[in-house]
Amino acid sequence: MRLKGKNALVTGSSRGIGRGIAIRFAQEGANVAINYVGSARAAEETLAAVTAHGVRGVILPADVGSVDDVRRLVDEASAALGPLDILVNNAGIEKHAPFWDVSEQDYDKVIDINLKGAFFATQAMVRHLRSGGRPGRIINISSVHEDLPFPNFAAYCASKGALRMLTRNLAVELGPLGIAVNNIAPGAIETPINTALLNDPRKLGALLNQIPLSRLGQPEDVAGLAVFLAGDEAAYVTGSTFVVDGGLSVNYQEQ
Ligand code: BGC
Repeated sequence: MRLKGKNALVTGSSRGIGRGIAIRFAQEGANVAINYVGSARAAEETLAAVTAHGVRGVILPADVGSVDDVRRLVDEASAALGPLDILVNNAGIEKHAPFWDVSEQDYDKVIDINLKGAFFATQAMVRHLRSGGRPGRIINISSVHEDLPFPNFAAYCASKGALRMLTRNLAVELGPLGIAVNNIAPGAIETPINTALLNDPRKLGALLNQIPLSRLGQPEDVAGLAVFLAGDEAAYVTGSTFVVDGGLSVNYQEQ
């Protein structure tokens, strides 16, 4: 077991990649705080899968787009599990619209959850670690779109590009505290964020044609890397982005 006795908080872990990470962490011996905002039932399912591995789990509702909520989330997670070792900033949303139609409301929502949430959850985690003089790991679930353009998702791309810069900046600032900060950049993973795509055979086929490994990813494909980054083997890794996309982002071909 690679995370035995560690305490982890995974935002947005009722479903999708967050759930996959919560369950894999539990399998590796970590206790897990499961955060959700929408579906209490899905969070219960994640909790059942987590505790089935004989570790402790707790469900904590919180809107990651609210700074008060993320501060409370870190407090409640440590109160329930004990001092935290690992924070996974996973919660994220995307909104499809041509750039010229993007509303202020949608822009704010995407930036608040994907960027502001990760920023202040990390700040709360760093305060928590500093007060105990303990090292820690921050893992941001970014996207291939921290680099790769994604037309009609301008705010999403801006949030993920900012997360890339934040990761590198914090790796430098927090390194002396023994806190490592890394990004995982998933490509097309089969999760609820992709429901529209999964229900559109034409778009899905076109995307699959661009993925050298010829399939969508599964949350487990991302979770294995998160375990590595959270564990002892990654002790000297910080400030990096790790792409998990079946080759999508390096696949340029002239037709
Ligand atoms: C987005 C998906 C998209 C994938 C590959 C992800 O970051 O959330 O909607 O299919 O990147 O482009």
